[in-house]
Amino acid sequence: MAPSASSTGAVLLFAIAAVLLLAVRDGHCAQLCMDSTFPRTVNGSLTFCGYNGTACCNSTDDAAVQRQFAAMNISGTPCGELVKSILCARCNPYAGELFTVTTSPRTVPRLCNSTGVASRLSGGKAAAAAVTDYCTTVWDTCKAVRIPGSPFQPPRGGAAAPTLTDVWQSSGDFCTALGGAPGGGGAPCFDGESAAFDASRVAPPASGMCLERLGNGSYLNMAPHPDGSNRVFLNNQAGKVFVATVPAQGSGKPLQVDAAMPFLDITDEVHFDNEFGLLGLAFHPEFAKNGRFFVSYSCDKTQSASCSGRCACNSDVGCDPSKLTADNGAQPCQFQTVIAEYTANASSGSPATATAANPAEVRRIMTMGLPFTTHHGGQILFSKADGYLYLMMGDGGSVGDPWNFAQNKKSLLGKIIRIDVNALPTGNSTAGWGNYGIPKDNPFSTDSKFAPEVFALGFKNPWRCSFDSGKPSDLYCADVGQSSYEEVDLVIKGGNYGWRVLEGTTAYLPLASPGGNTSAADIDAIPPVMGYAHSAVNNNVGSASITGGYVYRSGTDPCLAGRYLYADLYAQSAWAGLESPPGSGAYDVTPLPFACSGRSPIPCDAAAARSTLPSLGYIFSFGEDNAGDVYLLTSKGVYRVVDPAECGYACPIKSSAPGTSPPPGSSPSGGAAAAVVPAAAATMAALLLMGALLAL
Ligand SMILES: *[C@@H]1O[C@H](CO)[C@@H](O)[C@H](O)[C@H]1NC(C)=O
Ligand SMILES: *[C@@H]1O[C@H](CO)[C@@H](O)[C@H](O)[C@H]1NC(C)=O
Ligand SMILES: *[C@@H]1O[C@H](CO)[C@@H](O)[C@H](O)[C@H]1NC(C)=O
Ligand SMILES: *[C@@H]1O[C@H](CO)[C@@H](O)[C@H](O)[C@H]1NC(C)=O
Ligand SMILES: *[C@@H]1O[C@H](CO)[C@@H](O)[C@H](O)[C@H]1NC(C)=O
Ligand SMILES: *[C@@H]1O[C@H](CO)[C@@H](O)[C@H](O)[C@H]1NC(C)=O
Ligand SMILES: *[C@@H]1O[C@H](CO)[C@@H](O)[C@H](O)[C@H]1NC(C)=O
Ligand SMILES: *[C@@H]1O[C@H](CO)[C@@H](O)[C@H](O)[C@H]1NC(C)=O
Ligand SMILES: *[C@@H]1O[C@H](CO)[C@@H](O)[C@H](O)[C@H]1NC(C)=O
Repeated sequence: MAPSASSTGAVLLFAIAAVLLLAVRDGHCAQLCMDSTFPRTVNGSLTFCGYNGTACCNSTDDAAVQRQFAAMNISGTPCGELVKSILCARCNPYAGELFTVTTSPRTVPRLCNSTGVASRLSGGKAAAAAVTDYCTTVWDTCKAVRIPGSPFQPPRGGAAAPTLTDVWQSSGDFCTALGGAPGGGGAPCFDGESAAFDASRVAPPASGMCLERLGNGSYLNMAPHPDGSNRVFLNNQAGKVFVATVPAQGSGKPLQVDAAMPFLDITDEVHFDNEFGLLGLAFHPEFAKNGRFFVSYSCDKTQSASCSGRCACNSDVGCDPSKLTADNGAQPCQFQTVIAEYTANASSGSPATATAANPAEVRRIMTMGLPFTTHHGGQILFSKADGYLYLMMGDGGSVGDPWNFAQNKKSLLGKIIRIDVNALPTGNSTAGWGNYGIPKDNPFSTDSKFAPEVFALGFKNPWRCSFDSGKPSDLYCADVGQSSYEEVDLVIKGGNYGWRVLEGTTAYLPLASPGGNTSAADIDAIPPVMGYAHSAVNNNVGSASITGGYVYRSGTDPCLAGRYLYADLYAQSAWAGLESPPGSGAYDVTPLPFACSGRSPIPCDAAAARSTLPSLGYIFSFGEDNAGDVYLLTSKGVYRVVDPAECGYACPIKSSAPGTSPPPGSSPSGGAAAAVVPAAAATMAALLLMGALLAL
């Protein structure tokens, strides 16, 4: 158990374990190593113990276990296999609990001695499964084996290694000494494959989010370099993509972005205004080999010859372009949304080392005219689970989606779109939007009532979606509300998220409805999993606009682990939502105060002293790097979530971030009571986006 939680009697950490060999994935149990640190991310998998994902050993520790095992001289025997997995249990991300370090350290993990049914968690779903009486199996298999340097009993100086029967009378004696049932005393037991535990325990509280400011540029997207390195790509709204190296935490160094050397500059193609600009950036999963990457941006057909897609308001969807009211002076479909492919194939060297892309567009994936000037999402993401490209598309704008596009099955507006950029169109399946294939398992690929690109529908303006890096098939999307409610949806294939029949879970009454209405009874709307009412946020613009973030999977702040982070664009407010219990679909949401680390490479705010609430400006977006660390991308720069101790926030589990410790003399600052500091200054992008992401 983690020290400071013992008084509550409940321990602690919601976590995910990507543990080799096993079915157990996540649950409410403290991921903790024997040295009381949070497990680290394994680079690849451990040669001997095999653990990958998150584990308590690095390659040095793994080699030490291998030497220890070799010295026992039991390799290749049935007992040897059991002893190997027992020795390797120190690499298990739950090792700290399996070896009950906070009571008395053990030399073997608690061996499951129950044949009863324990709560095991698989793929986020609670599942009951028999836990074999592993302890008895170990006894039966190893009781007569002499094991030099045995972990089961203390060494007897000089004498030959004892057998288990020299020390214990029976399996009962042995398992009373070394066994334990899952959940017994709140601790998990080791069943030979993984940690089995009682799912009823609770996660540690997240008392606040500690930030450091790494850069002062304003960006809309951060994409980790697909080569797995500590580099990231960032793009601004105007049309430039930069590649930057993320400094190690605790190094005191800022993010190095060379503003004069963009990776790609398409500002000439991009229409930059209000909600328009370079809105999405996604790297092909095989980028390191093929150099392919994709951008999503807005263009103006009066300015660019390639800006010439079909209008989203067309006869297929029952929309008459001549009846579109001019919005902000624009002609219907003057502005268009584009997905274009570029390449980083270098004339010499591999794409992975390229510091500049070829400025010429390789292939136009999609061009589609927009009915109005707002609500067109624009983010693009590749799914690690299926390899397809997802486009987050808003309802196309104006107030209350007058043409009911988000519920129109033939329209791409108000949808999450899923396409195959490794394929070309076949037959008439793409309805003229561009050059891509339709994944065979798209939910409506064979339904003639639907556009086959549709993955999910009923969105107003999905503003920042993310796949959970711990559960790559989970897609979270924040959907900006109209007049009352901001929501977060957990998006499933074929799901209908309700807009504009519903805003949140409340009926929405449209101001105008030339496109007709959809009745609530005709859709099976999936309610949001998280969200907030406009009345719940306090800001100086009289409105709210959600910015979706990430499920936090880094060990840098163990108290945020497993929580979905999101924020309001204007309100200097952030929240963390934890699915509880796992697999239930129910989320406990808590407001998440934040403060600035005293060791921030760039002061968070000129006026702010160490550890006071930073004014972040407008929170445009979030990012996640290859180490799983999470960033806030705001009008004032790039902020990384760091060890909560650096801001004086309590977390009973130590950060796994290297070289961090509370700065001397740092005083606790909950941040919670501090007044909201309105953004004093805003970049041009901030001002432009301001009216924009608003409902209007
Ligand atoms: C981790 O190990 C599991 C089980 O062998 C395997 O299915 C998975 O692909 C591995 N993941 C990585 C990233 O190597
Ligand atoms: C992971 O290991 C590979 C090969 O051993 C190495 O090239 C790469 O740099 C490592 N990555 C990190 C983040 O250490
Ligand atoms: C493994 O971790 C130990 C400390 O736990 C550290 O001393 C050692 O340098 C690490 N080895 C590698 C290869 O990272
Ligand atoms: C290992 O076992 C083999 C045969 O089982 C034996 O010949 C050898 O001496 C043992 N080595 C040690 C170091 O105990
Ligand atoms: C399992 O071990 C615990 C702890 O030693 C003991 O109290 C319990 O009786 C054992 N249960 C079984 C079924 O052996
Ligand atoms: C902000 O960025 C500009 C140029 O990108 C740089 O000249 C300036 O020093 C930065 N300010 C801080 C506080 O780092
Ligand atoms: C980039 O280079 C790779 C490897 O040579 C090749 O397979 C790929 O087709 C190239 N892509 C482009 C867009 O030129
Ligand atoms: C697509 O092609 C099929 C058969 O080739 C035809 O039945 C269908 O009407 C076409 N759809 C559209 C939208 O043209
Ligand atoms: C749509 O619903 C609204 C609100 O109930 C109603 O005022 C309007 O007349 C309806 N429009 C159509 C075309 O049915």
